Amino acid sequence: MRIGVCYYPEQTSAQNLRNDLSQMKEVGIDLIRVGEFAWSTVEPSPGDIRLDWLHRVFDEAAEVGLKVCLGTPTACPPAWLINRYPEILSRDLEGAVRRFGSRRHYCFSSDLYLQEAIRITQIYAQAFASHQALDSWQIDNEFGCHSTVLSFSNKALRAFRKWLNQKYGSIANLNQSWGNKFWSMEYSDFDQIFFPRWQVTEANPIHTLEFRRFSSDQVMRFCKEQIKAIRAIQPEAIIHHNLMGHFTDFDHYQLGEMLDLVTWDSYPLGFLALEKYAAEEKSIYYATGHPDFSGFHNELYRSVGKGKFWVMEHQCGPVNWAPYNPAPAKNMVKIWGLEAMFHGADVFSVFRWRQARFAQEQNHSGVLDFADQMTCGGLELKELYEQIKQLEITSTLQLPDEIAVIFDYDSHWINHLEAGNSGTDYFWMVYRYFESFRSLGFNVRLVSKHHDMSNFKIIAMPSLNGVSSGEIEKIMKYDVIKIAGPRFLAKDNLFANLDSREILSAYFGVRREHTESFQPGQQFRSSDEKLIYSEYADKLISTAQCLAQTYDQNPLITGLHGNYYIAANLQPESLKRALVLILDSEQVDYEILPEGVRCHKAQGMTLWTSYRSLPEPFNFESTQILAGSHLQKTGDYVITAS
Ligand code: GAL
Repeated sequence: MRIGVCYYPEQTSAQNLRNDLSQMKEVGIDLIRVGEFAWSTVEPSPGDIRLDWLHRVFDEAAEVGLKVCLGTPTACPPAWLINRYPEILSRDLEGAVRRFGSRRHYCFSSDLYLQEAIRITQIYAQAFASHQALDSWQIDNEFGCHSTVLSFSNKALRAFRKWLNQKYGSIANLNQSWGNKFWSMEYSDFDQIFFPRWQVTEANPIHTLEFRRFSSDQVMRFCKEQIKAIRAIQPEAIIHHNLMGHFTDFDHYQLGEMLDLVTWDSYPLGFLALEKYAAEEKSIYYATGHPDFSGFHNELYRSVGKGKFWVMEHQCGPVNWAPYNPAPAKNMVKIWGLEAMFHGADVFSVFRWRQARFAQEQNHSGVLDFADQMTCGGLELKELYEQIKQLEITSTLQLPDEIAVIFDYDSHWINHLEAGNSGTDYFWMVYRYFESFRSLGFNVRLVSKHHDMSNFKIIAMPSLNGVSSGEIEKIMKYDVIKIAGPRFLAKDNLFANLDSREILSAYFGVRREHTESFQPGQQFRSSDEKLIYSEYADKLISTAQCLAQTYDQNPLITGLHGNYYIAANLQPESLKRALVLILDSEQVDYEILPEGVRCHKAQGMTLWTSYRSLPEPFNFESTQILAGSHLQKTGDYVITAS
C-alpha cells in the first residue's frame, strides 16, 4: 500500500515546492494529489491558460521520485465562467439559485457546463498525459457533496422529461406504470410532468423515485464524458473518483463500472460527531471514530471499485466541519491506515499536506501546520510507512470471503419513500448488520445484489427491495445461509406493492401480513425478554422453525433450511444476539470480541485493533505476533500470523 497526500501548491508560495516534495519523501509519501480545485489559477480569464506552475510540480515530483494524481478542477467553475453562463448554476429544492462563492455550484444537467468541463479536462490531459510523474486521474471531487446531486433548474426539468420519455416510450405507458389513474394523476404529455415537489400533498412515490434515478444518471453522464475526454488523449489512463462516507444520492455501483478503481474520503471523527450514534457511543469513541464506520466504507467501496479502491483523503488530525472536532487518539492514524490495507486498499492518502492559512478550512489540520511544523498525525504517517515496510507487504492484500451483506442504492431510495415509516433508515439497518457480524469476529463484505456470492458462508439482505424476481431467484439459489428481513421484498422497482408470497413461502416458510411502524422511542421486547426491537416490524405467519417471538407471540426470527427471516428492526446488541442464535443453529463458529475490538483477516495474517480500553489485556498466547503491542488500550493494534 502506498502512502499519499493531498497537496495544494496553488495555495502556498512557490518557494515551498522543492522543500515540500523532499519532506514528503522523507515521511514515506509516494503519491500526491493535486489540481482538483485549481481552475481559477489554471485559467484566470477565458482562454488564458497558465500551467507553468503545475508543470513545475510534475517535473520536481519526478525528480524527487513522487507520482502525481491529477484531479480535474470541475468542482469549482470560476467566477468568469459563471458570469458568462449563469445557467451553469444549480437550483435547490425551493428554486433558489446556488450562488458562486464556495464550490460545487454547477448543475449536472447543464450541457453548456458539460462542454466546459470537457474543455478544461482536455487542457489538463494534453498537458500532462505523457508526463512520467503522472500516476492517475481523479475526475472532479466528491460528486454530490453539499447536497448537489439533485438540482431543480429548468435544464434539469427538461432533461428529466426527456429521460422519462426515453425510459417509458409513451405517456400511456408511464401512466400505466405509475398507476396514475389514482387521484386522476394521468398525464397526456411528458411536458406536463414537473419535479416531485410543491404538490399539495406527497407526490406519487414512483415520481420521486424516478427523479432520484434520473439525478443519479446525470452524475454518470457528467463523469462519463470526462473519462472519454481523457481516454481520447491517454487510452491507458487510470481514472478514479473520490466517494464520500454515508452518501446515497447516486448509484455508486454504476459509477464504479465506468472507473478503473474508486477512492473514498474518510474522516472517522467528523463522521462520529455527525452520525446518529447513541450518546454513549459518541463519548466512548470520540477520539477513535466508531470501530465499524471506516470498515463499512472500505468494504462497500472495495465492491464498488470491483476489488480496487484507495483511501484518497484521510484525516490525520482534527477536521473543521463537524460540530465538535477532537484530535485523534494516539496511534489512530496508524490503525486507520493498517485497517485500510487489511481491507485491500492500495493507497492511503491523507488530507492535506499543509494546513490552510486562509478561507473555509483554516481549522482543518494537515501533515504540517500552517507554520510548517510537523504535526502528530504527520509523525504517525511516517510510522505507518515504516510499519508497512517492515511487514514487507508490497501488493494488494487478498481477503477471505466470509459474510456478504447486500447494500443497494435503489433499495435505499425505496425504503425511504415509504410514507408512514418515519423510523426507517436503510443505511443504519445495513450498518448494524455489518457491525454485529464484525463484532463476532468475521470479515464482512458489502456487496451489490449482482455480486457473485457463491463463496460466502452467509448472505444477509435486510430490507432489500426493488429487485426483480430473476435477481432474487439467483440470490436464493446460492447454497449458503441467508438472512432476510424486515420489510424484505415489499416493493418492486416501480414502487408498487410486490407480490412476494411465493418466494417468502417457498424459501422462508413465512407470509407477511403487514409491516407496522412505531413511535420514536417506543421499544418492544421479544417474548423471552432477550431481544429489543423498535421502529418497525413485519407481522409474519410462519410454518418455519421459530427461533424467537415478539412480545405478542408472533414470529420474530424464523428459519427454514438455512434461510432465516428477522422480522423487526432489532437494537444493535439484540441484533448481535439474534445472529448468535442463527450461527448456533447452523453450527457456524464465531468469536465474541471485546467491545471495540475488531479483527481483519488477510493472507494468513490478522490485524487486531482496539478502539477502547479493555478491562484486561487481550490474550494472544497461541499466536505469533508480527507487529504492534499487546492489545489493551484505546488506539492499540496487533498483527498476528494465523
Ligand atoms: C472533503 C473534500 C476536501 C476537503 C475535506 C475536508 O470532503 O473533498 O476538499 O474539503 O473534505 O475535510
